[in-house]
Amino acid sequence: MTSDLIRQLDEAAAAVRSRCGLAPRVGVVLGSGLGAFADALQGAVAVPYGEIPHFPVSTAVGHAGKLVLGTSRDGIPLAVMAGRVHHYEGYPLQQVAFPVRVLGRLGVQAVVLTNAAGAVNTAFRPGDIMVMTDHLNLMGGNPMIGPNEAALGERFFDMSTAYDRALCDAAEAACRAAGISVHRGVYAALTGPSYETPAEIRMLRAMGADAVGMSTVPEVIAARHMGLRVAGLSCMTNMAAGVLDAPLDHQEVLEVGERVREKLIEALNRLVRDADPGAGA
Ligand code: HPA
Repeated sequence: MTSDLIRQLDEAAAAVRSRCGLAPRVGVVLGSGLGAFADALQGAVAVPYGEIPHFPVSTAVGHAGKLVLGTSRDGIPLAVMAGRVHHYEGYPLQQVAFPVRVLGRLGVQAVVLTNAAGAVNTAFRPGDIMVMTDHLNLMGGNPMIGPNEAALGERFFDMSTAYDRALCDAAEAACRAAGISVHRGVYAALTGPSYETPAEIRMLRAMGADAVGMSTVPEVIAARHMGLRVAGLSCMTNMAAGVLDAPLDHQEVLEVGERVREKLIEALNRLVRDADPGAGA
C-alpha cells in the first residue's frame, strides 16, 4: 500500500516533471538573496512552489519561492530551490523537509544547501562563508518523527558523516577559487524567529557551535535519510548577538548576503560540478 507521504512526494515530483523533462542530478537550496543563481541557469524552467502539489509556500522576505530546473554553467542538470520555508513560519519540521525529499524523488544524488547565519565564532567576519562540517539540532524536534517510510530510508540512520567529506573539501576549494574568505565549522539550528540573546550565544559557543541559524538542519536530516550526499554553506551575515555592542537587524542580514552574492554564485557553480555524481567527487 502506498503511504500518504509517498503519494504526496510522487504527485509533487510528477507535477515538476510535467513542466520540464530535465533529469536533475544535483539539488541546490538557496538561502536569502541568492535567487540570482537560479535565474542564471541555462534552459531554466521555473515552477512556483504554489503550483507544486503539497509544497509548502514561503512567506519570509527575500525568499521568492520557486523550483527552477536547468543546467549550470558547466552543463550539470540541477533542481534549484529559490527560497525555502522555515519552522518559524509555523510549518511542522516534516513539512519543512518535504521539498528536499521531492528533490530526492526527482533523482538528485547530492544536495548543496545554503543559508544565512550569525557568526558565533569570533574569528569569523560578516561576508565569510562557513562550510558546514557538522550541526547541533536545537530545533526541539526531528523531521523524521512519525512512521518511517522504508521506501525512502531506514528508521535509524547514521549522522556521523552527514556532511560529505569530499564535498566539504570541494566546497572549501570552490569558495577559495571564488575569492571568498572561508572557514569550516559547526552550525547550530534554533527555531527563531527571535534572534538569540547574548547568553544563548555564549551557551552555543560553549557547546561547540561556530554559527547559528534557523534552517537547513531539517533538510540535512531528510537528505541523509534518503542517502543523498550533503554539502552545506553558511554565509555569515552578522556577528551573533552580544559579540558586538549593537542590536541585530534583519536588514543588515539581507545587505551582507547581497554583498557576497556574486562570489557565492561563482562558488556554487564550481561546487555543483564536484557534487555531480558523474564527476566522481
Ligand atoms: N541568528 C540566527 N539566524 C540568523 C542570524 C543570527 O544571528 N543571522 C542570520 N540568520
